[in-house]
Amino acid sequence: MELRDIAKRIEEKQGIPVSVRDVARVISAVLTSSDIWRIVDMAGIPVLATCEALRALEEAGWVTFQNDRVLLTANGKEAAARLGIHPVEELRCPRCHGRGLELWPFQDLAHEFHELAKDRPEASQEFDQGYVTEETTVARIALLHARGDLAGKEMLVLGDDDLVSLAAALTRLPKRVVALDVDRRIVEFLRTAAKKKNLNLEVLQHDLREPLPEELLRRFDTFVCDPTESFRGYLAFAHRGISALRGPGGAGYLGLTRLEASLHKWRRIQLALLEAGAVITDLFPNFHEYVNWPYIETMRAWPHLPVKRVPGKFEPWYRSALIRIELVEEGKVENVRYSGDIFTDEEAATT
Ligand SMILES: [Fe+2]
Repeated sequence: MELRDIAKRIEEKQGIPVSVRDVARVISAVLTSSDIWRIVDMAGIPVLATCEALRALEEAGWVTFQNDRVLLTANGKEAAARLGIHPVEELRCPRCHGRGLELWPFQDLAHEFHELAKDRPEASQEFDQGYVTEETTVARIALLHARGDLAGKEMLVLGDDDLVSLAAALTRLPKRVVALDVDRRIVEFLRTAAKKKNLNLEVLQHDLREPLPEELLRRFDTFVCDPTESFRGYLAFAHRGISALRGPGGAGYLGLTRLEASLHKWRRIQLALLEAGAVITDLFPNFHEYVNWPYIETMRAWPHLPVKRVPGKFEPWYRSALIRIELVEEGKVENVRYSGDIFTDEEAATT
């Protein structure tokens, strides 16, 4: 059994580009934990690729599934040692969770945000929603502030089940905050909260497959979004954001996982961002942690999991990087309509 054969099998069966190193990542994860969600998280390759790798490793006799657990067999351990594959050492800073940010100046915001977010709408599969933890939203606000993208700035949030616009407006620091969302429930929730707290927050119902309204183009200093991760879907969000920026110096914040985007897709996305006139200034792995959504058992990856266990709501396994971009040239994007399904591709797992 060669890792190369497993990589090839994944490519053939799932249509996901996988390297030998990616297969080794899955083995490293199994060396570290027997829990399926920790393995998916630590392997850091598309969920469907991890599932296929685990099945191939089981057939090879390297891995065994017992109840809910994924275990390395004696043969598997011997193979890992022979191939020089080691357990994962995350070494995350326990104080800042690897975000490198001091959050205590935002303690009051965290408290106020927590009170308001109690009544938030639950994540909906229809719009590929899945929101980040409250701590993550507050950390995003802290980062925006640290980069000078919040205070005195005009800010647009494209798709806001994370309630970033609400947290931003609560700081009373931005000059203007506008949120767009397709989901009527989110729009109503944000409007009600804005009214209650007398916030400078405008909320519009808008489907991001449609071109951005004329009055929002080239109007903002900062945009924030957490795109769906098919390549087309990603660009739909990123390009809308870039077209909303005034020009060079404008900044955008985007999420991107390793669990629904292979490094091949990362490369295509990075190239597209560069071609649009932007540069990547910051990239924080695992900045975003997501609250588990109620549709785990109907998501695309569920039937592929070799062992099935529904994770607890606050047992984060789905994380994404935060990418900050800044325009160094005039934004080069077209404000076109995207038709059809922008959510699904081979690597999609949580749609
Ligand atoms: Fe730290």
